[in-house]
Amino acid sequence: MSAGLPGGGLDGSGLSGGGLHVLGPVDQIPVGEGRAYGVGGEQIAVFRLRDGSLRAVSAVCPHKGGPIADGTIDGSVVMCPLHQHAFELQTGCSTTGTGPLRSYPVFADESQNVVVLLP
Ligand code: FES
Repeated sequence: MSAGLPGGGLDGSGLSGGGLHVLGPVDQIPVGEGRAYGVGGEQIAVFRLRDGSLRAVSAVCPHKGGPIADGTIDGSVVMCPLHQHAFELQTGCSTTGTGPLRSYPVFADESQNVVVLLP
């Protein structure tokens, strides 16, 4: 598993499941990298692309549980660090033939906090 998961959700509400979850400042994710968050009982990897946009997918690789937030991104695809399966950041679909990641709507609010929407 990924060491040193930051956060765990800053809403502190004990909410589980659906709705909007504020994860904290966009600035805590370096441009071109991802960070994993525990949100509503799920592990979600949020990536900050070089154009400043955000993407959110499940943080646990469906192949063998690799830490997706530690993967490398090229703008539209993330590559799992363990066995190099690749996934589209927009849809979560694998481009290398393994199962899909879940994808989640994510945006930065007016205070530049990351907000993710769980179904
Ligand atoms: S665990 Fe992610 S590619 Fe194998």
